[in-house]
Amino acid sequence: MKNPFVYGEAVTGENFSNRKEELCEITRDLEDCERIFLISPRRYGKTSLIMNALENLRTKGLYTVYIDLYKATSIQKLLEIYASEIVRAVESKLERMFNFLKKTLPGLRPKITIQPDGSATIGIEHFPTESDTLRFLDEIYELPQKLAEKKNKNFIIVFDEFQEIRNFNGESIEKAMRASFQHHSKVGYLFAGSKRHILYDMVANPSKAFYKMGRVITLNKIPRLEFSEFLRQAFERTEFTLEEGAVHKILDLVNDCPYNAQFLCHKLWDVYFDVKKIRTNDIEPTLNLILTENTPFYLSIWDGLSMHQRRLLHSIANLGGDHIFSQEFIASGDLGSSSTIQTSLRLLIKKQVLDKEKDIYFVTDVFFKEWIRRKI
Ligand SMILES: Nc1ncnc2c1ncn2[C@@H]1O[C@H](COP(=O)(O)OP(=O)(O)OP(=O)(O)O)[C@@H](O)[C@H]1O
Ligand SMILES: [Mg+2]
Repeated sequence: MKNPFVYGEAVTGENFSNRKEELCEITRDLEDCERIFLISPRRYGKTSLIMNALENLRTKGLYTVYIDLYKATSIQKLLEIYASEIVRAVESKLERMFNFLKKTLPGLRPKITIQPDGSATIGIEHFPTESDTLRFLDEIYELPQKLAEKKNKNFIIVFDEFQEIRNFNGESIEKAMRASFQHHSKVGYLFAGSKRHILYDMVANPSKAFYKMGRVITLNKIPRLEFSEFLRQAFERTEFTLEEGAVHKILDLVNDCPYNAQFLCHKLWDVYFDVKKIRTNDIEPTLNLILTENTPFYLSIWDGLSMHQRRLLHSIANLGGDHIFSQEFIASGDLGSSSTIQTSLRLLIKKQVLDKEKDIYFVTDVFFKEWIRRKI
């Protein structure tokens, strides 16, 4: 029997706890060719929600393209992925894709690569240098609108981890994108990411290229009622029984974070597979087991932090992150001046170790927080 709890990858189908409202809203807006920013802290379920929305949109007969900017190590690579994914959405046959790309973007030479698993993919041979690339930007950005017009079928394009665009050649790429995208009447765009300070700055700062470029949807945690029911059903579907209150104990411990909840449930399912029963008292020891197993990983993060950052993190993990500048908090960790604290906060947020919501700082990964509380 297969463990029904999936973590560390986007979840779809029966592994996806149905975020009905968000799914409906996003599907509708994209279908109307709007532009949306989908923003949340890490691992709340953005990519999963996107994958389910794209599935709906494909079923409705639209072309869909998903681009993960973490996979693009340069602007040339991004454009290569972008152009080939757009063509792939329209043409499924490799040879036709090849000819199509040659015809629509004559300046670029397509190439077919055979992967180690024997499958073939299409890419672009000899992408121009970075300065030449800018000449191709407009042509490539216009591609989905042109194709949508030609084929009379709208396009939906998702850029996941969109904040990474900032790592390429700065403003000119963003400006060219904006100039192009804002005229597209037959393409819906979704920009998602978890580096929230960067993304909010992109949309809310009048001096930035993406200012007011789209509506912002902030993804929250899955409501407790819905998520606890989803987890309970997954246990029961696989013949487990749960002691009263067990699921709530799990969600309390992981502070309702979807990723950590699935991780803890996955482990509980493995550890208690023989007895097929989860008691409330089993949950803490299983969390401890996860923390012990993950110690090398947490230690490597810890090792990369300065002494001040460690003290600050220790205080936030133990006292919470809402009164960071109070005398009591500063004294608890010997944290020094507020400017030193500001610097550490900024760097910890940049590393995505910390995050901030409504002026309250929190450790992004609740397991890491528990590891700091219990093991440091
Ligand atoms: N709707 C959902 N139903 C069930 N589990 C979910 C759901 N959304 C997220 N999860 C859990 O959280 C994990 C992370 O989800 P996902 O990768 O979609 O989040 P993300 O916000 O894109 O993360 P990141 O910020 O790292 O890109 C999933 O592997 C799954 O375990
Ligand atoms: Mg994601």
